[in-house]
Amino acid sequence: MAYNQPMLRDDALRGKTFIVTGGGTGLGRSMTRYFLQLGANVTITSRKLDVLEGTARELEAETGGKVLPVACDVRNYGEVENMLAETVKAFGRADGLLNNAAGNFISPTERLSHKAFDVIVDIVLRGSYNCTLALGKDWIAKGQPGTILNIVTTYAWTGSGYVVPSACAKAGVLALTRSLAVEWAKYNIRSNAIAPGPFPTEGAWQRLFPREALPPGLADKIDPASRIPLKRVGEHQELANLAAYLMSDFSAFVNGEVVTIDGGEWLAGAGEFSGLEAVPAQMWDQIEKAVRGKK
Ligand code: HXC
Ligand code: NAP
Repeated sequence: MAYNQPMLRDDALRGKTFIVTGGGTGLGRSMTRYFLQLGANVTITSRKLDVLEGTARELEAETGGKVLPVACDVRNYGEVENMLAETVKAFGRADGLLNNAAGNFISPTERLSHKAFDVIVDIVLRGSYNCTLALGKDWIAKGQPGTILNIVTTYAWTGSGYVVPSACAKAGVLALTRSLAVEWAKYNIRSNAIAPGPFPTEGAWQRLFPREALPPGLADKIDPASRIPLKRVGEHQELANLAAYLMSDFSAFVNGEVVTIDGGEWLAGAGEFSGLEAVPAQMWDQIEKAVRGKK
């Protein structure tokens, strides 16, 4: 079996209903496709109804599953409550929430207006806690179990220049994940997160790796695949496999975990001597001689 093949058994999510924010595009769409293939019903939600409707049509035709597209700006609590009500009306209940919607772009922080900072933090952090609170209140009131999965990224714990609003917001989402994993466990609500490294999507690549705007040398330097120890980017099915597991009952005892899926990227960046990767193998004799000679 190849690493990019579907992993879980057929019907692993049969009878479940999930809400996927940002489910019309990119990784949200890929995770939704796999949830449908495994038998779940899925509400997909974002600001652009036409995009959601197109995705819903295509994924229903491809998988035979049921998709409810609902326009909802996750920054607006009233719209989130309405999106949940629509889901319950269509499917009878919601069993899981995937907080995947995000906004991000690269910029030196001092160039940002306060509104530019706000927009990212509001989509990522406010959007995630709005959806979490609406779903959590509903589950607790109904005495129903629930599963929350948050998509963060590895700079949620390291921080990163040039994406500072996103780093602040993702760090908040990480705190939300771990805090509620403990507080809401008594209600049988689990909270976990995934921290993906680079997985090519139009949304992320346009805003974070604009090759065409950079001189070739610099473009190669920030090329994600070249920085990752496994020398490749992620494939969507790999992420979908992990997300399906964490949303499923197979992960019933996994709570408060953040699973990194990045080919070793962040640890390579953190390793003080990772730059030595650039030393050609034949040069190590010479280096060793020089270092030993320093006694
Ligand atoms: C500086 C910018 C800017 C830029 C927008 N702004 N783009 N400032 N550089 N590139 C400023 C605007 O001037 C405005 O401030 C404020 O931000 C709001 O911009 P709007 O365009 O009005 O906002 P909106 O239409 O709501 O768009 C939101 C957005 C957009 C975040 C700016 O990019 C978007 O819709 N993104 C959604 C999808 C997305 O970002 N996907 C990528 C996720 S990838 P002023 O002061 O002028 O009013 C990801 C990966 C993480 O998170 C890890 C990767 C490894
Ligand atoms: P994407 O396709 O741009 O997805 C972002 C989604 O969020 C879009 O569908 C967008 O739809 C939605 N969205 C934005 N603002 C919203 C709002 N206010 N309300 C509701 N929905 C909103 O990018 P992606 O790469 O798939 O990213 C998905 C997730 O993975 C994000 O959390 C991102 O941070 C994370 N991630 C991605 C990578 C990567 O390499 N791709 C790496 C690490 C983490 P609308 O524009 O229609 O609203």
